[in-house]
Amino acid sequence: MGELEPRWMGRAMVFLLIIWGVHGWGKEGHFIICKIAEEYLTEDALTAIKALLPDTAEGDLAPVCYWADEIKHHYHYRWSSPLHYVDTPDFRCNYKYCRDCHDSHGHKDRCVTGAIYNYTKQLESSSYASDSLGLKYNLTEALMFLSHFVGDVHQPLHVGFVGDKGGNTIKVRWYRRKTNLHHVWDTMIIESAMKTFYNKDIDEMIQSIQSNITDDWLVDVPSWENCNATVCPDTYASESVKVACKFAYRNATPGSTLGDDYFLSRMPVVEKRLAQSGVRLAVILNQIFASHPSIAKE
Ligand SMILES: *[C@@H]1O[C@H](CO)[C@@H](O)[C@H](O)[C@H]1NC(C)=O
Ligand SMILES: *[C@@H]1O[C@H](CO)[C@@H](O)[C@H](O)[C@H]1NC(C)=O
Ligand SMILES: *[C@@H]1O[C@H](CO)[C@@H](O)[C@H](O)[C@H]1NC(C)=O
Ligand SMILES: *[C@@H]1O[C@H](CO)[C@@H](O)[C@H](O)[C@H]1NC(C)=O
Repeated sequence: MGELEPRWMGRAMVFLLIIWGVHGWGKEGHFIICKIAEEYLTEDALTAIKALLPDTAEGDLAPVCYWADEIKHHYHYRWSSPLHYVDTPDFRCNYKYCRDCHDSHGHKDRCVTGAIYNYTKQLESSSYASDSLGLKYNLTEALMFLSHFVGDVHQPLHVGFVGDKGGNTIKVRWYRRKTNLHHVWDTMIIESAMKTFYNKDIDEMIQSIQSNITDDWLVDVPSWENCNATVCPDTYASESVKVACKFAYRNATPGSTLGDDYFLSRMPVVEKRLAQSGVRLAVILNQIFASHPSIAKE
């Protein structure tokens, strides 16, 4: 992987996605989330983000929101692959940080919610000159990881059962195509939606999702009241596992064929999760960079 030239990377990733059935919204999902987030960023946040983005992003957050998936199988970043999801006990339909946030070796905090706390803290502390965290860590990476993981924690099957690896081992057909349930939620529903309703045009899909985001959404955002930190990933993870039980796992037993019924009833759920994670990512970034505007001057 490390030897591959960038232009082959895309094709290789598609191949690996098929082989390994990775955890995470697909490329489109992350792009949509970050495009939505950009609409709600304050001037302060935009300035700070632009200063942190790598040159290749050309000042735009959305193209780097998939970065964490691109690098996670590279040996240098293999430690990051458990940070994309959290597994919950089979059939319990609830999530608890203390119980669930660890990797498969039992190392605490190594899961998607732990990672969201981690990278929020790094970005927040970065503007205190006396705080070594900001100097110790690469804040460009912190921003790209955070933007990716806030998306991931909203993908219901990122907070799925440990026994089926968040739907990865549940083989199903998506219409005529063989795949697994996790991949259906990462990619297939979004692809089919784009094809069926949006002329294969991602911008059209983004606009349609955006037009649904109303003011009461922004009030409701994350039940901020239940959360006095900058970020409440535990709330999002709890929602996700509930959605997984109610919509993702339901009627998707191993060997089943998922078609119109499943697609049309789940598409609005996916669109809502994309919208929620976009809006929440913006609120998180606005808070991080409002309290610490000096980051922009670095
Ligand atoms: C926190 O971030 C650092 C720097 O990327 C990384 O080495 C560490 O594994 C992360 N831990 C978690 C739980 O995300
Ligand atoms: C920070 O991370 C980015 C992305 O991996 C990399 O391009 C850049 O060189 C890193 N910066 C430092 C100072 O290591
Ligand atoms: C917009 O909201 C309506 C009502 O909740 C829902 O049926 C529809 O699927 C949503 N559309 C998009 C693109 O999110
Ligand atoms: C909110 O702050 C209080 C007091 O510092 C603390 O006891 C409580 O656990 C916090 N709640 C959350 C959800 O972080």
